[in-house]
Amino acid sequence: MDTARLDLAALAVSGVRPGIADIPLENISTLAKGRLGDPSVIPLWFGEGDVPAPAFIGEAMIRAVRDGHVFYTHQNGIPELRAALADYHTRLGATPITSDRITVTTSGMHALMMTVLMTCGAGDNIVIVDPVWPNMGGTARVAGVEVRQARMDLTQGGWTLDLGKVAAAMDDKTRLVFFASPGNPTGAMIPMETQVELLAMCRARGVWLVADEVYHRMVFGRDAGPTLLDHADPEDRLIVTHSFSKSWAMTGWRIGWMVHPPSLGPTLAMITQYSNSGVATFIQHAGVAAVTEGEWFVEKMRAYCETGVGIACDALEALPRVRMGPRPRAGMYAFFEVDGMPDARAACVEILQKTNVGIAPGFFFGPGSESFFRICVCRSADSLSEAMGRLMTVFS
Ligand SMILES: Cc1ncc(COP(=O)(O)O)c(C=O)c1O
Repeated sequence: MDTARLDLAALAVSGVRPGIADIPLENISTLAKGRLGDPSVIPLWFGEGDVPAPAFIGEAMIRAVRDGHVFYTHQNGIPELRAALADYHTRLGATPITSDRITVTTSGMHALMMTVLMTCGAGDNIVIVDPVWPNMGGTARVAGVEVRQARMDLTQGGWTLDLGKVAAAMDDKTRLVFFASPGNPTGAMIPMETQVELLAMCRARGVWLVADEVYHRMVFGRDAGPTLLDHADPEDRLIVTHSFSKSWAMTGWRIGWMVHPPSLGPTLAMITQYSNSGVATFIQHAGVAAVTEGEWFVEKMRAYCETGVGIACDALEALPRVRMGPRPRAGMYAFFEVDGMPDARAACVEILQKTNVGIAPGFFFGPGSESFFRICVCRSADSLSEAMGRLMTVFS
């Protein structure tokens, strides 16, 4: 972990701009360092499963390369993919979405970077609803933007958001509020009434709202989760971010998209041009195949994660030392505390050594979560059961 800090400090000496060298690169990779790819480790630490993208997606990519789709391309994404994604949203939601509202990005991560670049400058701040996947905060810090947190509370009924906390964190320098629903690491869904109230709050202050709906298709027992797009005007300052990483198991392909007001298209094309100049054309063709032919796989991934949550929670709920709240009804994680283990970070290192199971400590997901652990449940039942058996030896 310290090695990453030292490397950055060394870079600073060689001319990295102020502020950058102080950002700790302390993520799951630093914890996993030295054990990545070790076959004796069951890796539950990253937000990805053990299932590769289905073959037809790879075949579509190869076909696209053979057909010569290997040149510079449209900055907002190829028209076929934008149209396919517009149809996809229109089919799943209650509001028709037009393709001028879609920009294809190099991942959900890059959609967030583009959003920050577009809305925030030095001296501005953003408010993040947490516990949450840490990259939104990291993105803002890299851009020189202050990060403020509004933490959800774990109650008897699950993780709940007090909008008063969001309001208290905002001031006249706040440019953006970010939340993910369903969430990572909690799997929690913020009720739609609360999301709509949050949108109204942001609207009143002229602040952007970013709704991360990367786990929108991983809501158990439903085809898709509710979406704030159904409760907003097209020109609201609302950006909804998506990814192919989870429901199509395409983590390594680096492709995602954002749904935005139609008027933002040219600005996003400009930012694309000056950041990565567009998403690899043949990967976009693979995206068309995924979104038009991959419903069976999306369903399979949802069922896989639901089974995984069941296996993990059956084991964890049997342990009196574990505190977790109700079972997640979405996503691919279990997030819990264990009595007598307040320092989850140190515990994760020890657990890795003792059990050869890799899990993630809560402090990655925001202040206040230092005593939590996150496990990714997107694994075969055999492998996950084996991992839970080993974890029970340290958590019971
Ligand atoms: C809430 C959330 N948003 C976005 C992403 C990013 O996905 P991508 O792989 O497309 O960058 C993740 C990945 O774990 C995530 O959990």
